[in-house]
Amino acid sequence: TTDHGLRTTDYGPRITDYKMPSMKFTLGIESSCDETAAAVYGGNPPAFSEKIARQFDTHSPYGGVVPELASRCHLEAISFLVNEVCREAGVNLNDISLVAATAGPGLAGALIVGLTYGKSLAFALNKPFVAVNHIEAHMYAAGAESEIDFPFIALVVSGGHTLLVDVKDELSYFILGRTRDDAAGEAFDKGAKILGLPYPGGVSIEKTGMAGNASAYEFPRALKERKSLDFSFSGLKTSLLYFNKKNPDAVIADVCASYQQAIVDVLVRKSIAAAQKLNRKTIVLGGGVVANKKLREDINSAAKKKGIRVVLPSFNLCTDNARMIAYRGKILYEKRGEDDLKTDIFPMFTTKKNLTTNEHE
Ligand code: KG4
Ligand code: ZN
Repeated sequence: TTDHGLRTTDYGPRITDYKMPSMKFTLGIESSCDETAAAVYGGNPPAFSEKIARQFDTHSPYGGVVPELASRCHLEAISFLVNEVCREAGVNLNDISLVAATAGPGLAGALIVGLTYGKSLAFALNKPFVAVNHIEAHMYAAGAESEIDFPFIALVVSGGHTLLVDVKDELSYFILGRTRDDAAGEAFDKGAKILGLPYPGGVSIEKTGMAGNASAYEFPRALKERKSLDFSFSGLKTSLLYFNKKNPDAVIADVCASYQQAIVDVLVRKSIAAAQKLNRKTIVLGGGVVANKKLREDINSAAKKKGIRVVLPSFNLCTDNARMIAYRGKILYEKRGEDDLKTDIFPMFTTKKNLTTNEHE
């Protein structure tokens, strides 16, 4: 443990070992929020190896991510993680043919660390560099594990974003709906805070609600009307705040299960509505909230009834990781070429600047 509480031994699982690297590798770097991650992707057949340093211990006393501390933790971890992932995978720095790093959206100071590290490494190795949009990486991440045909509907649910997207191909997609206020992950995180449960909120609400009754209490489902594909979660959060004040003796497991169900119901209903509206046969999920078991169960059973295929990334590909950055970086490079080393961070997700295309604009 360092000054900042970074546990450098707290890694995600190792995915694959490379025996004999026969092809060149992509190095992916992620540092947009509170996970520093490095992954190498390549070989024959292509496989991933990854190292992640999580900052739970650093931020949990504050009940949320402290940006300044996050930046320092990234800085402390990044070089070590890159070296470790290469060493474990048996990949020499000279075997790296492409460097990809997250450029946004996320915390500015955190993004600067990973992006600058990635650009510098690419420059030093004299190899191409690609800047990756973190939300796009979540959107396409499932493709790293499963064969998916275009077009498909993507539901991206992370800590800061909730998007329904019509994905046409690797380079073009249209935003069908987004949240008008809080993101789904934010609803989990703020809900947990109201209930006095630890950060990160999604995990603690799921855990606490596991044995609870999801229909014990009725929480609002906003924007129910089928024609709107937008989301709104701030009313739900406020209703929990009042509920909690009025009912201090409510069973916490039931409250968590009911609150979780309200979020899941809306996500499932809107995703199915989007697929039906555009006559799409596949729904692909991505982002940290997709680690939620109830969401995974409910979207599977709802889609099955409608004859729609659902593709869920494995648990560790949902929450923030560098495999999705390496995967997306490689595809972008193949389809569109490298990015300039002048590429800057973009903390905010805005369709005009950051989306590849968006005909609805
Ligand atoms: O994609 P992600 O790891 O980071 C961002 O890009 O924001 O998503 C983080 C979000 C947090 O809001 C966290 O509470 C939520 O994902 N989350 C979950 C679960 N695990 C993480 N929400 C519900 N259930 C979970 N098991
Ligand atoms: Zn994310």
